[in-house]
Amino acid sequence: MSTIVAPSLLSADFGNLRNDLEMINRSQADWLHLDIMDGVFVPNISFGFPVLKYVAKYCTKPLDLHLMIVEPEKFMDRFQELGVATYNVHFEACRHLNRTIFEIKNRGMKAAVTLNPSTPVSMLNDVIRDVDMVLLMTVNPGFGGQKFIEHSIEKVKELRQLITESGSKALIEVDGGVTFETAPRLVKAGVDVLVSGNTVFSAPDPEQAILELKKL
Ligand code: DX5
Ligand code: ZN
Repeated sequence: MSTIVAPSLLSADFGNLRNDLEMINRSQADWLHLDIMDGVFVPNISFGFPVLKYVAKYCTKPLDLHLMIVEPEKFMDRFQELGVATYNVHFEACRHLNRTIFEIKNRGMKAAVTLNPSTPVSMLNDVIRDVDMVLLMTVNPGFGGQKFIEHSIEKVKELRQLITESGSKALIEVDGGVTFETAPRLVKAGVDVLVSGNTVFSAPDPEQAILELKKL
């Protein structure tokens, strides 16, 4: 099985969004990763429903939604209507994580939990069997193009062990600073899904960059 690749729209050219969406559609990308920021949970604001309406309309790939917002459980119905495939909530933003996971799954979406770099993997001990995916942030969330946090490699190995020992079927996704240097090491440590913004969209040939990441 080749690595699942999810280019992050945050690094796209929003002046020519349709072009970039068509590139994604043509490419070997498995999913499209969508970063939603509210300026409260993270120190940045990205894009919202008026943009997402057209992304959902023109993108043919499953949508991997990464909510960097407070109260991420608030918008399940609206994102379900948009047709998102995976609903990622931050552990740090959820007061009743168990309930939120089941409410996501009851709406027919895949439930994923995201951990900030400072949140230990062990925080997931009591939900790991219930989630479809864990997203490990490998930079502090909020911006594209940041430097990879090296300790993440150890966290991936720890999470892989937790998944194996618990019998969970969760995929491991990483997000932030995924480059041609860090990606092979992440895959070797046990990653299933690579999110990539800058590495894909700043490449001379983004489709080729996606292909290279998939081969890992
Ligand atoms: C950062 C976002 C990422 C971002 C990654 O908070 O969650 O998805 O787009 O960008 P790169 O791959 O450039 O680090
Ligand atoms: Zn993201």
